[in-house]
Amino acid sequence: MAQTETTARGNWNSKLGFVLAAAGSAVGLGNIWRFPTEAASNGGGAFLLVYLVCCFLIGFPVMMAEISIGRRTDKNPVGAFKQLSPNKLYSLIGVWAVICGTMILSFYTVIAGWTFSYIFEELFFGLGLTEWAVWIADTGNGWLNALFSVAFMACTISIIRGGVSGGIERATKTLMPLLLIILIALIGYVIAQPGSSEGLAIYLQPDFSKITPQLIFAAMGQAFFSLSLGMGALITYGSYLDKKENIPQVAAMVTVTDALVAFLAGLLILPAMYLAQANGIAIFQDGAFIAGPDLIFQILPSLFHNISGLLGTLVGITFFVLLSMAALTSTISLLEVPVSYTIDNHGFERKKAALLVGSTILIISLFISFKVSLIGTFDFIFSQVGLPLSGILVCLFLSYVWKIDNAFDELEQGNTGFRNTLMGKTWMVFIMFICPVVILYNLITTFL
Ligand code: TRP
Repeated sequence: MAQTETTARGNWNSKLGFVLAAAGSAVGLGNIWRFPTEAASNGGGAFLLVYLVCCFLIGFPVMMAEISIGRRTDKNPVGAFKQLSPNKLYSLIGVWAVICGTMILSFYTVIAGWTFSYIFEELFFGLGLTEWAVWIADTGNGWLNALFSVAFMACTISIIRGGVSGGIERATKTLMPLLLIILIALIGYVIAQPGSSEGLAIYLQPDFSKITPQLIFAAMGQAFFSLSLGMGALITYGSYLDKKENIPQVAAMVTVTDALVAFLAGLLILPAMYLAQANGIAIFQDGAFIAGPDLIFQILPSLFHNISGLLGTLVGITFFVLLSMAALTSTISLLEVPVSYTIDNHGFERKKAALLVGSTILIISLFISFKVSLIGTFDFIFSQVGLPLSGILVCLFLSYVWKIDNAFDELEQGNTGFRNTLMGKTWMVFIMFICPVVILYNLITTFL
């Protein structure tokens, strides 16, 4: 069938293209670096459980909301809110979303840069160049951080310059399936090793007494971060989605894929941590897990180094290639939002916009490169608090400003009769009441 809406903004070539791109956006360092770290420091199985509940009961409805706002308006987040209401004030929701995304991208690029540097670390180690390996693995070296941030941002910019279907879609189509295959192979490898079973038990047997407001806060933030919600990525991606596509269905596919990869990543990393401990590597510090950048970037390489010979080098390199691919499909979505804003609202040409916006964000990344402790601060403000906050605003805006009926009209394109289904009714209750109340309650109890 000929493409009906080949607009200047571009469109996805297929439904698979959208799902892969949105899933590629969702699956990233959030799943493979952030999720296992949060899970490990929040009681393993209890965190996994609450996280899954947050993904499906809060994240999934909000994702449908974002995609429908995007597809209705055909706009970036700022333009979208402006178009759906005469009151200009509401476009501030979009502005906040773009700010969160921009700031997240700035620190994300630094961590993503480490995925590059650790490919070299594994390579050097395998070649017996131990001193070089130690040198390049130093995440406290500002100049190295800066160098790899530049490299990573350059990759992101070059894909964004290719545009919607040419760049983003093509890139994710090959990267995503590869990623799943490598992940599963690594899990098989780690679980087969003696010493990993304790990690497996901690991860799969939830200890309900560990569920506290703090844990729920962390799990909620993780769900938003991991599903790429709250910064308009899915408003923007939704704006490229064809009217005949079924939004609840594609949102479900993206949510399931993302949760699955997070689950698998936990299945790899937690047993791997205990395996590392069995091999004499410290995973506890002052009674708590070694968290943050240290977890993946210190523990896992030492694990790979314990595997003798070529196999260890191959496993190590494969893992960091996997991680950098996952990060790249996420940075693509993070950069696409401010870029599409610049194209739509300031009339820039795509290639220029990508270079301009990308380089501007890179300046913040360079700053963070030399002051890595800023990552935690930025992550707290913009991911943990910022994203759920903007989730509340999206729910309230959709329900009471744009109006739920109009949202249903949009959702029914591609899913006729959706408003009368059980799922449609449930979705309405969640968006109008449950999601905003639960998120707000959670934010408040955490800070009281
Ligand atoms: N979801 C990605 C991850 O898990 C990160 C990401 C991409 C993101 N786009 C986003 C987070 C938009 C929040 C909002 O790594």
